[in-house]
Amino acid sequence: MAPIRLKNLCKRFGDVDVIKNVDIEIEDGEFVVFVGPSGCGKSTLLRMIAGLEDITEGVMELDGRVVNELPPRERGVAMVFQNYAIFPHMTVRENIGFGLTIAGTPKREKSRKVEEAARTLQMEHLLDRRPSQLSGGQRQRVAIGRAIVRDPAVFLFDEPLSNLDAALRLDMRMELSKLHRQLGATMVYVTHDQVEAMTLADKVVVLRDGTVQQIGAPMELFRHPANMFVAGFIGSPPMNFLDVQIARNDGDTVTVRSDMLAPLAMPGPSDHQGAEAGGKLGIRPQYLRLAKDDTDALLSGRITIVERLGSETLIDVTLADGSNVIAIIDESEQVAPGETVGLSFDAGRAVLFPAGMDGD
Ligand SMILES: Nc1ncnc2c1ncn2[C@@H]1O[C@H](COP(=O)(O)OP(=O)(O)OP(=O)(O)O)[C@@H](O)[C@H]1O
Ligand SMILES: [Mg+2]
Repeated sequence: MAPIRLKNLCKRFGDVDVIKNVDIEIEDGEFVVFVGPSGCGKSTLLRMIAGLEDITEGVMELDGRVVNELPPRERGVAMVFQNYAIFPHMTVRENIGFGLTIAGTPKREKSRKVEEAARTLQMEHLLDRRPSQLSGGQRQRVAIGRAIVRDPAVFLFDEPLSNLDAALRLDMRMELSKLHRQLGATMVYVTHDQVEAMTLADKVVVLRDGTVQQIGAPMELFRHPANMFVAGFIGSPPMNFLDVQIARNDGDTVTVRSDMLAPLAMPGPSDHQGAEAGGKLGIRPQYLRLAKDDTDALLSGRITIVERLGSETLIDVTLADGSNVIAIIDESEQVAPGETVGLSFDAGRAVLFPAGMDGD
């Protein structure tokens, strides 16, 4: 059992604040993904959980116990890195069992654990090979195997798939999901890839400049991003933003409008403080559709780019004020650059970001 609590955690390198007052609760057995742009502090936070970086301020609890001062080997965590750090002169078997050899684990127990890990990772037939005889994905599996045999309560992954090509990443992503279900261990996974975050996580933590922007289930972040940073970071292509004014705000309903947008009544939370000043209306490309006719259209513009992706088509539409929105439409739609189209969406799918609350 290994819940993890980070309470008001801070990390300073010299006089640079890298992690700022971070609060995160990770439940036992949960798959949590830290995501954010390069340099936002993901690896530092993970290394703090591992005990590889000391804690400047705040409290780290593992399984109900404060571990601020506990050395890494006593924390029951195993870490898997991006560069898999396996030994070229050792076989897969020796590599997976390396930690156990160091710990002086009896031979028979070691073999049993190595074979069990190899079975879990479906690489029993590769045990006598050396790393040079393996693919990138297989090498990464060796590194994961090395973590598995230690039977940790918590697995920590730092961008373990970023050296692999796209197809292999997809495979390994699915395997990691399976592994998580199989082992039931707590997993904390760092990536800057929002697709990995969306697909792997029970819970996503979005970080920016050492601060937590939002914590939630993947679809919660997709549907209800807390600010424009999260809105833009989660989801692909990113959310569209339109400048809007507030025509009316009666608490339950906020009516927004702009020169580009027909008046739109939104089910607004009554706490849209400052919404009077207007703001940005966020609409995901996935929620835009071609309007059936003029009365259905909330926006209209000229198609500048059509990208046919096979299963769907992406269109880039330039509005009269020169701004543009991206919509994902059905692959069967016949559209061409230069055409004028009307776009529509359900008001309940749009998100209003009042001015001054844009996360910048
Ligand atoms: N030992 C160190 N000394 C000083 N600054 C450091 C040290 N380690 C990291 N930093 C700084 O802390 C910040 C966060 O680094 P970190 O490696 O945690 O980012 P990251 O989110 O993992 O980025 P990436 O996606 O590029 O791996 C960066 O600005 C980095 O330069
Ligand atoms: Mg990193």
